[in-house]
Amino acid sequence: AVSAPLAGLRALVTSGPTHEPIDPVRYIANRSSGRQGHAIAAALARRGATTLLVSGPTAEPDPAGVEVRHIETAAEMWAACRAALPVDVAVCAAAVADWRPATAAGEKIKKAKGKAAPSIALAENPDILAGLSAAGNERPRLVIGFAAETENLVENATAKRRSKGCDWILANDVSPDTGTFGGSDNTVHLVSASGVEDWPRMSKQQVAEQLADRIAAELKRAS
Ligand code: C5P
Repeated sequence: AVSAPLAGLRALVTSGPTHEPIDPVRYIANRSSGRQGHAIAAALARRGATTLLVSGPTAEPDPAGVEVRHIETAAEMWAACRAALPVDVAVCAAAVADWRPATAAGEKIKKAKGKAAPSIALAENPDILAGLSAAGNERPRLVIGFAAETENLVENATAKRRSKGCDWILANDVSPDTGTFGGSDNTVHLVSASGVEDWPRMSKQQVAEQLADRIAAELKRAS
């Protein structure tokens, strides 16, 4: 028999980058592949959770057994996440753009001889991890975020856990020489209220499996 420790529970996962429009043909984005988030959604679904994946544009296929909502902007991601509540666990693996162009031009911005290069004013995007962590009586029982850092990994992740108000932070080293961003492996540290756990370097697939097992154990413990 298939073991389904998350049967009857609801999971929300964010994944991928967001695209923030400058005009109808241009946008601001980042190099997130969506691999880690998609693998986490698949691992939660395999354990029986009713899983919604809210994803920005990626090359990853929709994972089997997962409901997928495709969005482009941070504002759309936040709206889709809010609409998904209540859930038991939320995992924010998306690389949400911190800023968006304050106004998206309605028409393609034209280049013309003698015309100065345009400057783009930015506005801050909603922080989805912090928003879910502060969702009052709709707050998921377990809220998990990632901290991609290139230095002082654990210190920064510990501070981030507090400032975001989430329960767990998976701190990952994204220094260029690790190949983590867009690559298939990840080195993570699980930061929670009870301390820091160093996980060995493993595939993003294995990180997803281990995290899903930890989530199942935690939700069982806390139920
Ligand atoms: O603040 P920073 O981007 O380093 O935090 C990373 C964590 O916060 C990730 O879990 C990411 O998914 C989440 N985040 C978010 N919404 C934002 C920015 C980050 O959910 N606007």
